Amino acid sequence: MPDMETIVSLAKRRGFIFPSSEIYGGLGGFWDYGPLGVELKNNIKAAWWKAVVQERDDVVGIDAAILMNPAVWQSSGHADSFVEPLVDCLSCKKRFRADKLAPGQTTCPECGGELTAPRWFNTMFRTFVGPVEDDAIHTWLRPETAQGIFVNFQNVQTTMRKKLPFGIAQIGKAFRNEIVTGNFIFRDREFEQMEVEYFVKPGTDEEWYHRWIEERWNWWLGLGLRPENLRIRPHEKEELAHYARACVDIEYRFPEPLGWAELEGIANRQDYDLAHHTAGSGKDLSYFDEETKEHITPYVIEPSSGVDRAALVFLLDAYHEEQVRGEKRVVLRLHKDLAPIKVAVLPLLRNRPEVVAVARQIAARLKPHLNAMYDDTASIGRLYRRQDEIGTLYCVTVDVQSLDDQQVTIRDRDSMEQIRVPIAEVVDVLRGYVRESGNRGIRESGLPMSPDSLVP
Ligand code: GAP
Repeated sequence: MPDMETIVSLAKRRGFIFPSSEIYGGLGGFWDYGPLGVELKNNIKAAWWKAVVQERDDVVGIDAAILMNPAVWQSSGHADSFVEPLVDCLSCKKRFRADKLAPGQTTCPECGGELTAPRWFNTMFRTFVGPVEDDAIHTWLRPETAQGIFVNFQNVQTTMRKKLPFGIAQIGKAFRNEIVTGNFIFRDREFEQMEVEYFVKPGTDEEWYHRWIEERWNWWLGLGLRPENLRIRPHEKEELAHYARACVDIEYRFPEPLGWAELEGIANRQDYDLAHHTAGSGKDLSYFDEETKEHITPYVIEPSSGVDRAALVFLLDAYHEEQVRGEKRVVLRLHKDLAPIKVAVLPLLRNRPEVVAVARQIAARLKPHLNAMYDDTASIGRLYRRQDEIGTLYCVTVDVQSLDDQQVTIRDRDSMEQIRVPIAEVVDVLRGYVRESGNRGIRESGLPMSPDSLVP
């Protein structure tokens, strides 16, 4: 397992993640995703959406507004309960979460100065809606995407004619004015969430709670996370959020000092949200059960995870260092669905126009099918190392011999095996590998390949 600094440095150096507004000294808890980071994040979101919405009959998606009527946050309990106990150091002025200090601690852990008594601090960002501040409505940037789903429960249920059990999924930005940020993108003030609110008949909630825990556990493993770095931890009663009857965290083993920490939470929210929005809005959000001919308020099971935290976990878990012919090779063994670039096309000689032309042509033919790039900015050894470090699945090399035999070399990221393939077949072969081979090397992919095509 790499330390966090190694990943922060790779992410910066290779164009995954930069500190936000860096040229002005940054802003704590905010990050910008570079060209490779945005691909990784988009791939995570696409994999999640496919698994929880597109491959299921019982979940549909929405995309709700970030700013909502402030009454939503009164009814949901966030205006009163989304608070952290905060203490200030009178000497160095740093702020700490009182619940993260040693019990009874009265001095600053950093400078030894005197700490204030704890005060409650609401971590929602306040903002105004309207052009004149005095007349404007105060509201908050949403601290979770879930409420956009609850207030649309009836719109979705009636327009899509959904019967219980069914779910509504959403991916979107959330904002929290965290007292303590840090550990790179683990705890941010602006982040993205992937949430499902799954509505069930009361009495079946326990069963669905366990089904979703299993479902989500398998999703993380299916994208290649190492099982020894994942575990499920049920919440203690005192830890439960104000709305939850039960909750587990799927935790990841982050590098020390963070250690085991939450990657995804799966909660049984009971009828807390729909009941409170019914009371707050005066609109009946009950569901008519055709079987029993009764109006019921559904219970809710909520799997909720963060895209940024997922990106961090996938980067950490994929990072490998190995010795190859006496040299260190860094390789990101990202799952094929998550790798930002699937194929890099590299000319062996960048000063031979015929070689460059063939390489550019192959890259152009690949692009409609796979995220492919052309690169000739360094020697082939260095280009391979760069592609390994960003997790590119395959490199296609065009050499002088390619001009004669109309074949190119395909190199596999993980095994470093190389095969020669006719240029005419390269697009189909690579599409096959990326679709079928998963994280296995060319040899184990089970795809048809002539034995003499292996480059020794
Ligand atoms: N709707 C339930 C909810 O928001 P949560 O445990 O507070 O529950 C769910 O958040 C997930 O969102 C977490 O498991 C984490 O992955 C992500 N998350 C929460 N706060 C975050 C933060 N400050 N920075 C990055 N990700 C965060």
